[in-house]
Amino acid sequence: MNPTQRDPMRILIDEQAIQRRVRELGQEIRATYGDEPVTAIGVLKGSFMFMADLVRAIDGEVRCDFLGVSSYQGGTRSTGVVRITQDLKHPIEGQHCLVIEDIIDTGLTIEYLLKMLEVRQPRSLRVAALLDKPSNRETKVTADFVGFTIPDEFVVGYGLDLGELYRNLPHIAVYTP
Ligand code: IMP
Repeated sequence: MNPTQRDPMRILIDEQAIQRRVRELGQEIRATYGDEPVTAIGVLKGSFMFMADLVRAIDGEVRCDFLGVSSYQGGTRSTGVVRITQDLKHPIEGQHCLVIEDIIDTGLTIEYLLKMLEVRQPRSLRVAALLDKPSNRETKVTADFVGFTIPDEFVVGYGLDLGELYRNLPHIAVYTP
């Protein structure tokens, strides 16, 4: 059964708006790095759909690697405890690294990841986040590239889940139980 049929949820950002913004982000990102190769680091699982679209919108040389992270243990609040479930497959020393996140909420997850990656001595380390929920921030971390700034609501779709459901929606919806 399609989750949209089972739980009708309010669409916050529709598919066309996402695709348009992702294309713009790809151009912004390429302009920032000039002709240099970029290592895109997708934070699994939430960023998988954003990553797939974003890397296709960045011209030129792009490497892709992934970090598996679990920060929620199934609920809707960050626990602050970040568990690495899969490390990068390749060293990043001397490379321009772009961490690709689905959403920055408290900022605890991305802060942890940036600290972990910095010690591997990349040439540069930036963050691209599809969504930013600044009202909930508990750290000073900001993303270098942000798709959309949203209010403090729990959202699902386009890779974002609640208990592993709704990742397949092509849009971002506000979760309503
Ligand atoms: P943070 O550590 O609070 O910044 O949360 C980061 C992670 O929590 C994100 O990468 C998401 O996986 C998850 N998250 C935060 N807000 C939402 C939401 O509204 N919907 C789905 N997942 C979320």
